[in-house]
Amino acid sequence: MIDFTVKVSRTGIEEGVNIIPMYEDEVPQPAITLPENIMKLIEKVAGRDFKGKLEEVYSIPTILDRGPERIVLTGLGRRDELELDSFRRAYGRVAIRLDEAMTESAASPIVSDVFDLGSVSQSIVEGIILSMYRFDRYKSEKREQKLKHITLLVRDESALYKVEKSIEEAGRICRGVYTARDLTNMPSIDCYPEKFAEIVYEVGRKAGFNVRIYKIDELEKMSMGGIVAVGSGSIHKPVLIELEYDGTSGKDENPYVIVGKAVTFDSGGISIKPSEKMEEMKYDKAGGAAVVGVLEAVASLKLPIRVIGLIPCVENLPSGTAFRPGDIIKFRNGKTAEVISTDAEGRLILADALSYAVEKNPKAIIDLATLTGACIIALGTHASGLFTNNQELADKIKKSAERTGERVWQLPLWKQYREQLKSDVADLKNSGGRPAGAITAALFLSEFVGDKPWVHLDIAGTAYIQEASEQKSYTPKGATGVGVRLLVDYLIHETQ
Ligand code: BES
Ligand code: MN
Ligand code: ZN
Repeated sequence: MIDFTVKVSRTGIEEGVNIIPMYEDEVPQPAITLPENIMKLIEKVAGRDFKGKLEEVYSIPTILDRGPERIVLTGLGRRDELELDSFRRAYGRVAIRLDEAMTESAASPIVSDVFDLGSVSQSIVEGIILSMYRFDRYKSEKREQKLKHITLLVRDESALYKVEKSIEEAGRICRGVYTARDLTNMPSIDCYPEKFAEIVYEVGRKAGFNVRIYKIDELEKMSMGGIVAVGSGSIHKPVLIELEYDGTSGKDENPYVIVGKAVTFDSGGISIKPSEKMEEMKYDKAGGAAVVGVLEAVASLKLPIRVIGLIPCVENLPSGTAFRPGDIIKFRNGKTAEVISTDAEGRLILADALSYAVEKNPKAIIDLATLTGACIIALGTHASGLFTNNQELADKIKKSAERTGERVWQLPLWKQYREQLKSDVADLKNSGGRPAGAITAALFLSEFVGDKPWVHLDIAGTAYIQEASEQKSYTPKGATGVGVRLLVDYLIHETQ
């Protein structure tokens, strides 16, 4: 990863390469006051060759004997449209360009006329680190990262500590996002349930949280009928992974429980999927991967709270031992479901995990799952679907979504939709058919959370970059690690 330092600079300009942020509607005026010779230089090109559009980059050699070697203009977009995400995108794009141009280090003044210094620095660091992510462990030729050092410039000493703290925190959060992306991007041949669990164990050992792995015998004893059934088609046995971080020095406070769907490969099972784009179903473990990233970040930040992660982890394959349509499954909380489609497997494994979450007497339960194609039809790739039985909790997550740029949009859980899940032979059917598929899936889950405050996030459209996804500088192709920054932000604000 890149390393960051903060420095007091009266001029906002250093020797070497300088990144200068610009608002689109104010070109050639930089978003921050700079020495006159630099302003003159910018005036010559800005407006014609550079407009300041979001993620636009323009590099100018200064040809000066002393002082700055190069000015790299980066567009923040219009001031009246500025979001924290503008900083992630602008600095992510500039980092990619500098890296391509073999630049090793650069400096930049921090613009904080709209948002506070801490949030802006955090966003800048996130944008740069996350844009540099590559999943290249399967490539014979690895691309070496050239960009290694960024200096953020503040005008006076009083700002030093705040910016340093933001940089430090952003780095720890991004480490969690990297872990989530890595796990999600891993091909299913090398990342089946037991392997997934082993990786989580290693992450926990290094980051400082406990990991317990429940294997098939225990899952049967614990009456986890959903996890056992979905896992029965693969030679790779299912597991339930329990992660626990306690930052309350053993005060035994009620935990926050984060649950994540981890289907290491979703072929659909006996209700097999069409082969087109089936390779994308390695990403069906994104929810579980995000849980690992959240725990890693929370442990690394040493937050003074207790957090439990639950990851039901299975491979959904058809075979002579697989579960089938028509089967009736009994879950941990005693409820039963008739299997209509073995491809509606996520809710079956989550039913057990959510039932188990309730037993932890949690302050809140939040689950993340690449649950339905229907959610992609409803919201596309620009927001995760949010569902809740507790508006207060949902509103907190919405606030975090605004701060982190990990958008969510709430859909209703009206009881009328529940009709679609009625079965003649069991308490529920596992598929409510095509209409409102994301909602009926969420309603299925709601049967397993009792009266605990709960939010369900359907991340099918946001967990990885798809054809329709917006090209953001800081989310390269493949897994996005969505949910990590969102939930870490939520948990941080719970401690304040
Ligand atoms: N993992 C899929 C959902 C999915 C689809 C995620 C596309 C990402 C991209 C899930 O297990 C699934 O197959 N859902 C079915 C449910 C249906 C059978 C009720 C779906 O959405 O079609
Ligand atoms: Mn499926
Ligand atoms: Zn699935």
